[in-house]
Amino acid sequence: MDKIVISGGKKLYGSISLSGAKNSALPIMAATLLSKEESIIENVPDLRDIQTMIKLLQALGAEVRFQRHTLFVKPAKDLCPKAPYDLVSTMRASVCVLGPLLARMGYGEVSMPGGCVIGARPIDLHLKGFEALGAEIKIRHGYVVARAKKRLKGGEIYLGGAFGSSVLATANVLMAAVLVRGKTTIHCAACEPEITDLAVYLRKMGAKIRGEGSPRIEIEGVSKLRGSRHRIISDRIEGGTYMAAAAMTGGDVLIRQIAPEYQTAMIDKLKQAGVLVDQTKSSIRIRRRKPLKPVDVTTLPYPGFATDLQAQMMALMSITPGISVISEKIYPDRFMHVSELNRMGAKIYLEGARAIVHGVKRLSGAPVMASDLRASAALVIAGLVAEGKTEVHRVYHLDRGYDRLENKLLSVGAEIGREKEEKQGSMNN
Ligand code: EPZ
Repeated sequence: MDKIVISGGKKLYGSISLSGAKNSALPIMAATLLSKEESIIENVPDLRDIQTMIKLLQALGAEVRFQRHTLFVKPAKDLCPKAPYDLVSTMRASVCVLGPLLARMGYGEVSMPGGCVIGARPIDLHLKGFEALGAEIKIRHGYVVARAKKRLKGGEIYLGGAFGSSVLATANVLMAAVLVRGKTTIHCAACEPEITDLAVYLRKMGAKIRGEGSPRIEIEGVSKLRGSRHRIISDRIEGGTYMAAAAMTGGDVLIRQIAPEYQTAMIDKLKQAGVLVDQTKSSIRIRRRKPLKPVDVTTLPYPGFATDLQAQMMALMSITPGISVISEKIYPDRFMHVSELNRMGAKIYLEGARAIVHGVKRLSGAPVMASDLRASAALVIAGLVAEGKTEVHRVYHLDRGYDRLENKLLSVGAEIGREKEEKQGSMNN
């Protein structure tokens, strides 16, 4: 296992180009199964989750090649409709093959995803959506079994849950609905840019979709879809992570291949915090002239502040003089990074789903443990400003979602590297 080692204190200067969005690529890869023809997907980030999805597509009967960020997927005429436990258990997004399987084969079995470190993460909304299209759902031996007894039919589907809309439930139901008979309306649909990207790809395949990017998506089912070529949008969470990193260290960083219109919540909070943010159509420049100011942040579905940037924002606030309050409204338990940041000298107190962050003058480098993808990123960027050496263990979390993170940070002047982990003693799970 690898660890990331950072010597803190370097300001960042230069430019970083973003990779394609993981959370766009994963559902779009699942959507390739909706056609028997080959699809070519460009700008796919090279990540562990992408490799897992490739294995899953292969297990379901697709031929897949991945060369220099381009994926070639040729699904079989008859798919094997079972997504096995060993793949689904390593990546929850695997559940989004169920919609395409149901739509194309009238049947799908996907190992029921369990809980995960950021919270309970149920899939009831996905299943409710499939039922509204006429599928019969059963849970058998740890698998969700979805079956269309007769051809699925469009319907009215409300996808709001206790924490608002659901990104992957919207993607899953959208992918099933494009091939059913008649019209489907999804109400309280997720408005995330990754859903828009999926809809754009599906339309290129011949699907009839209107309203993506809004809470009401209308789909007119078609009988067949063709393969298509598509370029994945850039990763707004990767972008937000580098924005937070640059704001923390100071210096002058230009983030390229970014869509500023998808970063409005992050830009707003950084400006409130006193950071200079300049944008063009496809770049954002981050500089800091004055001391940081505290801000309060509440995570919400898009276009609100992304839960996937909460940990990185907390790292920034941890060195901001004054008190900032961070409220988590998507995953109330997503605070595993708090105790690790506190080990680096931060002063963060948890009150239910709210973190009270008392800014400290400086963090001090320490060995810390990554608990999930975004928590890992927060610890790395905290390490960039900490005094001395920080070692971030369990880097495999980071490798799930950040394409060449340490190389990109190295290229703007960070002192950061990857080392092989010596044998660990007893680490809690
Ligand atoms: C997506 O997960 C992302 N994953 C997550 O990114 C992200 O944190 C999340 O959206 C929220 O933005 C991918 O796109 C692959 P949700 P998803 O369903 O779709 C509740 C990362 O770090 N809910 O939008 O699974 C749920 O518990 C990852 O890249 C139900 O109640 O999240 C949560 O409170 C982590 N029932 C809320 O909805 C359901 O059936 C939003 O979750 C589904 C979800």
